[in-house]
Amino acid sequence: MKQNIKPAQGKLAVLLPGMGAVATTFIAGVMRIRKGLSEPVGSLTQLGTARLGKRTEDRVPKISELVDLAGLDNLVFGGWDIFSDDCYTAARTAGVLDRDDLEPIKDELAAIRPMPAVFDQEWVKRLTPKHVKSAPTKWDLAQQLIEDIHRFIADNGCDRAVAVWCGSTEVLAEVADVHETATRFEAGLKANDERISPAMIYAYAHIKAGVPYANGAPNVACDLPAIIELAVKHRVPIAGKDFKTGQTLMKTILGPGLKARLLGLNGWYSTNILGNRDGEVLDDPGSFKSKESTKLSVLDTLLQPDKYPQLYGNYEHKVRIDYYPPRGDSKEGWDNIDIFGWLGYPMQIKINFLCRDSILAAPVVLDLVLFMDLSRRAGFYGIQEWLSFYFKCPQVAEGLYPEHDLFIQLIKLKNTLRHIAGEELVTHLGLDYYYDN
Ligand SMILES: NC(=O)c1ccc[n+]([C@@H]2O[C@H](COP(=O)([O-])OP(=O)(O)OC[C@H]3O[C@@H](n4cnc5c(N)ncnc54)[C@H](O)[C@@H]3O)[C@@H](O)[C@H]2O)c1
Repeated sequence: MKQNIKPAQGKLAVLLPGMGAVATTFIAGVMRIRKGLSEPVGSLTQLGTARLGKRTEDRVPKISELVDLAGLDNLVFGGWDIFSDDCYTAARTAGVLDRDDLEPIKDELAAIRPMPAVFDQEWVKRLTPKHVKSAPTKWDLAQQLIEDIHRFIADNGCDRAVAVWCGSTEVLAEVADVHETATRFEAGLKANDERISPAMIYAYAHIKAGVPYANGAPNVACDLPAIIELAVKHRVPIAGKDFKTGQTLMKTILGPGLKARLLGLNGWYSTNILGNRDGEVLDDPGSFKSKESTKLSVLDTLLQPDKYPQLYGNYEHKVRIDYYPPRGDSKEGWDNIDIFGWLGYPMQIKINFLCRDSILAAPVVLDLVLFMDLSRRAGFYGIQEWLSFYFKCPQVAEGLYPEHDLFIQLIKLKNTLRHIAGEELVTHLGLDYYYDN
């Protein structure tokens, strides 16, 4: 399909609703990498490779050579936040990167100021907004966002745009009739329906503006039936939800290993302490419910208890997050995993992961930006399941179960890139090395 892809020419606007710890760590990181001051550790688009053809051919290009991706120099950053702090100040507040690392890019970072946000405290209880839009209806707010998007693209001489939600986690919403179809959703916007949250309004606005949209938080947004319908209608790629970092990343690395060797599970207890603003927001039970739902969904779909009742039919899975300010962005996660082996004999695994949330999330944002832009140029639209690799709760077509196994997700991603590049898919069968066909 190579001939159908539009080239990655011109500037790419990177729009980020929510310019807190993750967003500023991502932006600052790209700025440092552009200056040659840091390496893009953790980013598949920058460091990853993909084998092509047979192993004997020794063709292993970098992913950035296999497909035409936007260059880092062509990214222009913008976004919205409920605080008016510029990105340097926001990065200092987030406290992820050291002052010494921010200093060489201080002016560039400080030049980025968020646009006023669409916000409603009913949906994020722990934050008090200082920099928000007002309008009589949610419909008008959506129109203001669409104007912001078009203005940003024009003012910055961009050729196209991509958006990744890096805003706070909203309270878990029930999917209701107003979310079912585009017509009902638009009527709901005009009627100020209380079941439509700000995150949903951002997703709607970007899709109406033709901008690919990924959701990095666990709340529902671009996974609503109405939004999926619009994404297909307007030929816009969407993906979500909830960046796969930290504890869930470990779960989807270890879980497939246990299942591959058919070791049973009696229980998986996960707890975390973290002290950043995300932790403060998640301290509210409503926002925690959103996070809990994406974190809990992983094991069941991964382990398939219905297929392996003797191994996974009766395990306990608990997830806890405690807001503990002294930790800042440096999260500490503990997992206690009760497994069993041959003849049912019990064993235990303990994980103590001292991770840095935003350091793990920033390369995920970068890859999503570049791959969502590639999707759009390749003519893909609707749910981008090939990007499941990056999400705790991957969006899939109705009737499909999501694939959580990190390694299957990676094979899927690389095969999609081979497909885009017009290369043969790699099956790993390998029999042709041993037998004549
Ligand atoms: N860091 C990770 O590893 C990770 C992993 C998975 C998901 N996430 C999710 O990513 C999101 C961002 O995480 P973070 O650590 O940067 O949090 P953060 O609190 O530092 O940043 C979120 C920002 O969003 C802003 N915001 C809230 N509502 C908004 C709205 N309606 N419009 C515009 N801005 C709004 C807040 O003011 C804040 O600046 C959270 O939802 C978090 O759950 C993070």
